[in-house]
Amino acid sequence: MSNAKQSDSSRGERPRASSLKPLKLTVPFIKPYTGRLLLAFVCLSVASVSMLGMPIAIRYVIDYGFSSDNLKSIDLYFMALLGLALIYAVFASFRYYLVMWIGERVVADIRSAVYRHIIKLSPTFFEVTRTGEVLSRLTTDTTLVQSVVGAGMSIALRSSFTLIGCLVMLFVTSAKLTLMILALVPVVVLPVWLYSRKVRRLSRATQDRIADSSSIADESLNAIQIVQAFTLENFLGERFADSVETSFSAARKRLQVSSLLSGLIVLTAFGAIVVVLWIGAHSVADNTMTPGTLGQFLMYATFLAGSTTALGEVWSDVQRAAGAMERLMELLSAQTDIKAPANPLALPPEGRGHIQIQRIDFNYPSRPDQKALDKYTLEIQSGETIALVGPSGAGKTTVFQLLLRFYDPQAGQILLDGVDITKADPEEVRKRIGIVPQNTVLFAETAMENIRYGRPTATDEEVKAAARAAIADEFIEKQPEGYHTFLGEKGMRLSGGQQQRIAIARAILKNPPVMLLDEATSALDSESEKLVQEALDHLMQDHTTLVIAHRLSTVIKADRIVVMDEGKIVDIGRHAELIRKGGLYARLADLQFRHAPDDQENELLEVV
Ligand SMILES: Nc1ncnc2c1ncn2[C@@H]1O[C@H](COP(=O)(O)OP(=O)(O)OP(=O)(O)O)[C@@H](O)[C@H]1O
Ligand SMILES: [Mg+2]
Repeated sequence: MSNAKQSDSSRGERPRASSLKPLKLTVPFIKPYTGRLLLAFVCLSVASVSMLGMPIAIRYVIDYGFSSDNLKSIDLYFMALLGLALIYAVFASFRYYLVMWIGERVVADIRSAVYRHIIKLSPTFFEVTRTGEVLSRLTTDTTLVQSVVGAGMSIALRSSFTLIGCLVMLFVTSAKLTLMILALVPVVVLPVWLYSRKVRRLSRATQDRIADSSSIADESLNAIQIVQAFTLENFLGERFADSVETSFSAARKRLQVSSLLSGLIVLTAFGAIVVVLWIGAHSVADNTMTPGTLGQFLMYATFLAGSTTALGEVWSDVQRAAGAMERLMELLSAQTDIKAPANPLALPPEGRGHIQIQRIDFNYPSRPDQKALDKYTLEIQSGETIALVGPSGAGKTTVFQLLLRFYDPQAGQILLDGVDITKADPEEVRKRIGIVPQNTVLFAETAMENIRYGRPTATDEEVKAAARAAIADEFIEKQPEGYHTFLGEKGMRLSGGQQQRIAIARAILKNPPVMLLDEATSALDSESEKLVQEALDHLMQDHTTLVIAHRLSTVIKADRIVVMDEGKIVDIGRHAELIRKGGLYARLADLQFRHAPDDQENELLEVV
């Protein structure tokens, strides 16, 4: 996706497309429902014809229905009128159902298609696109498209049918009056058209101001604890009120213009009707027209006016929907830079997680001239435990990102079980890797489901076994509903250590050959520290493990410690050996591990 196009709706604005072309893109989505569309068309035709028949029945009612010498035909005319109304009602509601159904269906399909597509895009895409933006496209833009494909299409079809039908019938009824009306059209339409443009511009302004205030609310509600801790409530309250005020005054301006507009419409429309009636009344008096014909004419004229207004309203929706569709298609056509090659190499079935990182040069796409990894070479035997240690920004997390193939390096290669990961299917690569991130991400679901994300096909028993291995069993059982306790949004109802153990259980359940652990930097108390450590020990057993270590106990257990700085490996060795050497590791160890809990201090003494 091109970056330039992304800012257009970043503040919730929904600009209209410059052309209606993007709407063509809905065609493939509508195509599967062609049958229903045709059926809707049939219903539409029947309904319209019966509607156009009504004024004729009315004419007969007026001209002949009020005289007593013809009682039988009175009944006939009224029955015909009722019959037409019935046919109209039945077919119009069928048409409505079918067209609206297509609208809902098509938008549901577009939504799923867009979601399925973007969830596969690489992190590079999300670095340049705000998730809020993507969400708003998924909701607001699809809703706009829906309004057009459903209701809009329904109104547009019906109104165009009525418009053409009425025009024909008006000519048939009275060519003279019709020509007169057509002459009046510009007088009515021009000022209305000018004013409605202004209304539209102003309503766009109102929308934008509303979007502004909701973004203030969104931001602050998401950080509610920070807001309250810094006692920003009044300050933000004022700011929100200000922006609401601005949107109110934008709305007031719009209302002023639109009330003026509706006055104008009433005046001109009534004026036109009065003129026509006036002339018509003269024709009736001259006996050149029957009262029924005049009635018929007026009815057609009313239908005509109604459908013109409806078309005008739909038109602006159509334009906005075209803009929305354009943005949705931008998402659908966004290409991910991490793709499986056409003929992906299969990873060996018996692979045990042997990793070779060979002379990797890497910089993040958004930082072209800052090397995050520099000629990075490291071989990890299967079953080995490696601790990555280094100052903040050294590139530790970056190593994980490359192993998971979220990015491709500019030079060098990574082999997993002997296969270059860029030549394999990324999904296969990721299936062999488990990750426990620094900041655990839990979903707003139960404990059971959260762990099951590790392997969605796992049985309840397997989930519980994983939880036991992660020492999560005990606290989960203590929750009010055990494994079926809802963990709150982002797992907020758990402590930090508990969240970590859920994440560990998830990785244990997945049971891949390679484990990546990013130890949390936040200090846990020694009790939960011990529990987490025990859980991690289970996790590391029989796995190739890379751990970004912040804890003494972890580095001590590692087979090798890799010391990193500025994207390079500066040293490799075991704890005691590296401490003896002095240098970066000794300094880091002194800083990071000084506050280790007592029992770990003892452990350290034993090792050294
Ligand atoms: N998505 C990104 N886009 C651009 N630069 C990034 C990105 N992520 C990290 N960096 C940069 O790459 C360098 C290495 O970052 P990395 O996250 O690997 O550090 P780290 O060793 O994990 O540090 P910490 O211990 O603080 O987590 C840093 O200079 C960082 O600013
Ligand atoms: Mg990191």
